[in-house]
Amino acid sequence: MTSDRKLHLGAFMRPVSLHTGAWRYPGSYPDANFNFAHLKSFAQKLEAAKFDAFFMADHLAVLNMPVEALKRSHTVTSFEPFTLLSALASVTNRIGLVATASTTFDAPYHIARRFASLDHISEGRAGWNIVTTSNPDAALNFGLEEHVEHGERYERAREFYDVVTGLWDSFADDAFLRDVESGVYVDPAKMHVLDHKGEALSVRGPLNIARPPQGWPVIVQAGQSEPGRQLAAETAEVVFCSPRDLAGGKALYADIKSRMRAIGRNPDHLKILPAAFVVVGDTVEEARAKRVKLDSLVYYESAIASLSIALGHDASGFDPDGLLPDIPETNASKTGRAQVIKLAEDEGLTVRQLAQRYGGYSGLAFVGTVNTIADEMAEWLSQEGSDGFNVVFPFLPQGLDDVAERLVPELQRRGLFRGDYAGTTLRDHLGLPRPTNRFFDPA
Ligand SMILES: Cc1cc2nc3c(=O)[nH]c(=O)nc-3n(C[C@H](O)[C@H](O)[C@H](O)COP(=O)(O)O)c2cc1C
Repeated sequence: MTSDRKLHLGAFMRPVSLHTGAWRYPGSYPDANFNFAHLKSFAQKLEAAKFDAFFMADHLAVLNMPVEALKRSHTVTSFEPFTLLSALASVTNRIGLVATASTTFDAPYHIARRFASLDHISEGRAGWNIVTTSNPDAALNFGLEEHVEHGERYERAREFYDVVTGLWDSFADDAFLRDVESGVYVDPAKMHVLDHKGEALSVRGPLNIARPPQGWPVIVQAGQSEPGRQLAAETAEVVFCSPRDLAGGKALYADIKSRMRAIGRNPDHLKILPAAFVVVGDTVEEARAKRVKLDSLVYYESAIASLSIALGHDASGFDPDGLLPDIPETNASKTGRAQVIKLAEDEGLTVRQLAQRYGGYSGLAFVGTVNTIADEMAEWLSQEGSDGFNVVFPFLPQGLDDVAERLVPELQRRGLFRGDYAGTTLRDHLGLPRPTNRFFDPA
């Protein structure tokens, strides 16, 4: 690993913020979920700050919490990511555009088409966050009575990846001759029919779209369970993750990169970007006070619903002032469940205290001045806790402006972050190679 590594920065976008109290924070845009003008200004500011990517998460369900909590929540409703990112592609030039798409509730031909289209429309800026979808309520929106079992979801995801990337390779890069003289539009010798018949999927192909400008849109993976890490090591080029501290980050980083070495992949060809909640103040005390104010805007009903989602188990009947009881194993997020139990044990929190933490934002947080935050980010980079961060803004627009206009210049001044984009594609920003076409490029 060379010492001239720089940070990669993604924006982990929920348009109002991931923090459930954010829509009531002074100066916020409570309607940002469905206000394209706001989203456009966020993307353009992030591009001016030279961010690697704008990442739009997706959750496929609304009714995953009691109505009393739902009525307080801005986090479950937002635009469909492809529609939004296609629109943002036309008002930005450089920033990467990453969308979540589920391998459990979608079809590979659809996913391959949408990402190939987004990559063409944006001229090489698309990325696919592969998720198996942890939210069990999504199943009810797709004709299922209950969620698909965790292991089965990941087996399907692995096969799904092979099919989608195979479909992107349907045509050689130079297959479309468009030769007016000879009248040949496309060379059939440069078209491959996938004819995939596997355990979970059956897809003939070829894709009806030319090979994407990046060869394949950038592959992102966000699950951290055992099968999630293995899927990442085998397929991912970016990992979104949620370690709680530097020790956790280093352990995950070392684990995924060593899994890559074990299967002969170059560890530099995968960038690990933990989600980081960043609150900037003129002083550390001021930044902390902003967070306390923000947390105070969270309602207990929403807080207990967030805790239930994180646990994969209904916590509404627990004694708020007692300690967390034993929680059974879950078919939702195993990582989420384990993290809550650990936090409760480590800090001796009551159910109420735990709920308030989860109701706001419970993950890794950098709360301080631009100097203290830059110091922490530099430490994560140099200690191989990460290759950068997927920044969670506490409230928008101010929290985003604080990062883009105050923190980023400090990171640039220290040589920790690019002063300008060196290339035009998301692969260029991330320093990732363009994949060869498995059917047409010589090995
Ligand atoms: C930064 C980050 C972003 C994520 N974004 C999404 C998302 O948009 N949609 C989704 O269904 N799950 C999302 N997840 C959840 C993971 O994809 C995964 O479902 C979850 O971690 C459970 O998988 P596991 O059991 O392998 O840990 C995200 C996770 C992280 C850490």
